[in-house]
Amino acid sequence: MSAVARRTDQQAYEVELSPMRRRHLRSVLRIEALVYPRPWSMTLFLQEIARRRDRAYLVAKVDAEVVGYGGAMTVGSEAHITTIAVDPPYQGQKIGTRLMIGLIEASIERGGRTVSLEVRKSNTPAQRMYEKFGFHPVGIRKGYYIETGEDAIVMWADNVDTDTYAEILEARRAELR
Ligand SMILES: CC(C)(COP(=O)(O)OP(=O)(O)OC[C@H]1O[C@@H](n2cnc3c(N)ncnc32)[C@H](O)[C@@H]1OP(=O)(O)O)[C@@H](O)C(=O)NCCC(=O)NCCS
Repeated sequence: MSAVARRTDQQAYEVELSPMRRRHLRSVLRIEALVYPRPWSMTLFLQEIARRRDRAYLVAKVDAEVVGYGGAMTVGSEAHITTIAVDPPYQGQKIGTRLMIGLIEASIERGGRTVSLEVRKSNTPAQRMYEKFGFHPVGIRKGYYIETGEDAIVMWADNVDTDTYAEILEARRAELR
């Protein structure tokens, strides 16, 4: 049975988050090619996951199969979500939410107090998810995406190390139960 057929039957399944390793990259690159017009290369992922002190890269797995991944970098008190993606058959099932929780928690552990990201102006599903994590637009990068010339919206979440923000994370965790 294919992954698509298996996942459209609404059966409950366990999602496990773990650090991204070299052995996951074949699956990561497969998803990357499906969801991004300008996919990252194997070399770039290898460079990123090697930087364990200031980077946090996670994969989400179902039955040992990688179904999503994301990454964050932290410089001083500023964290940045570098990428996040979910395999299309698994989208809309809170796997992106799980990854965001993991990435923000990892950013806080590394000293992050603000978290930023860029998102395509047309990517409203992702923007809705980020808003649910307290991100708000702070600016536009004109023509940021070279392949299409599309603008990026820069979004920020402030004070992620506070009790107020902990409540946002708890509300998102509650949605998973
Ligand atoms: C963006 C992405 C990572 C979200 O992951 P996901 O697992 O599909 O998202 P979730 O199921 O956790 O949804 C979280 C919230 O996102 C928003 N959302 C997700 N899919 C949506 C859709 N198709 N339309 C509108 N809002 C949507 C909703 O607000 C949702 O909350 P809700 O379930 O209470 O309505 C995923 O859709 C993806 O990989 N997209 C392609 C790659 C991409 O765009 N990455 C982001 C680049 S900045």
